[in-house]
Amino acid sequence: MTAVPSPIEFPHRHLLGIEGLSPDEITHLLDRSDSYVALNRRADKKTTLLRGRTQINLFFESSTRTRTSFELAGKRLGADVINMAVATSAIKKGETLIDTAMTLNAMHPDVLVVRHPESGAVKLLSQKVNCAVINAGDGSHEHPTQALLDALTIRRRRKRIAGLTVAICGDIMHSRVARSNIHLLTTMGARVRLVAPPTLLPAAVGRLGVEVFTDMREGLSGCDIVMMLRLQTERMQGSFVPSQREYFRFFGLDRDKLKAANDDALIMHPGPMNRGTEIDSELADDITRAVILDQVELGVAVRQGCLDVLSRDLPELDHNV
Ligand code: NCD
Repeated sequence: MTAVPSPIEFPHRHLLGIEGLSPDEITHLLDRSDSYVALNRRADKKTTLLRGRTQINLFFESSTRTRTSFELAGKRLGADVINMAVATSAIKKGETLIDTAMTLNAMHPDVLVVRHPESGAVKLLSQKVNCAVINAGDGSHEHPTQALLDALTIRRRRKRIAGLTVAICGDIMHSRVARSNIHLLTTMGARVRLVAPPTLLPAAVGRLGVEVFTDMREGLSGCDIVMMLRLQTERMQGSFVPSQREYFRFFGLDRDKLKAANDDALIMHPGPMNRGTEIDSELADDITRAVILDQVELGVAVRQGCLDVLSRDLPELDHNV
């Protein structure tokens, strides 16, 4: 069967980050993802788009929601999905990242979904394999599917991204979610504010095209979206905040600080949440303000959208062999 050439809407083999993607490419990924939302609410959620394809989820860092989300996405598209967690892999026996990649590559997967604690590791791996690679989070660098699911959540609730003011609050320094969101939101025409204690702001913050605040009420003033981040203590070497109680007092989102934002401002959080550290527990459960579970739901659709878009570039399956 000869493939009908389609216009190249996403001319990339891998999805390694948001940085460098054009507004049209981001919109294409979001549109394709959106088309899976209704399907995921049906009783029969299965399609055959990826039938015959093999997806390997290779996680060098623990993960619950991202791995589950990619697994569901692949299965709903009909792929064979295999999960490889670090604890059961050869890494423990001293095998390097590249050896693992080459070994898996020899098994002819079509897509590798990779999470790794080092920034840049997923890109390095993508240069050594023949299949499509999706970055599921590399160190404090990028987490593109998280930014896409955040954008889809905003777009479905607010019908646009351009012109909105989004405050990203908390541990920006260690957050790949913040970095991918900054690239996506500024590329799509939103105004981005970072709100954090000076110790949790990255050194190169001046080059990111964002406004910076060190006071929550000032930073949230007139905002449409309040995106809270987890205090990522596992990435901290040394002490970045005096105590979690103190942190909550100044930077934790509660009803009082939220009053500074617009009355209809949406609260987002990528999860997992530290209730009582970066967000008040009762506020996190307030479904009139918080869209945290929408983010989880749309996460599956976004991973389907990304797998779908990248699979258009995979070699044709020959069912006659
Ligand atoms: C984020 C991550 O792993 O970077 N979580 C996620 O993907 N759901 C954010 C975090 O761990 O705080």
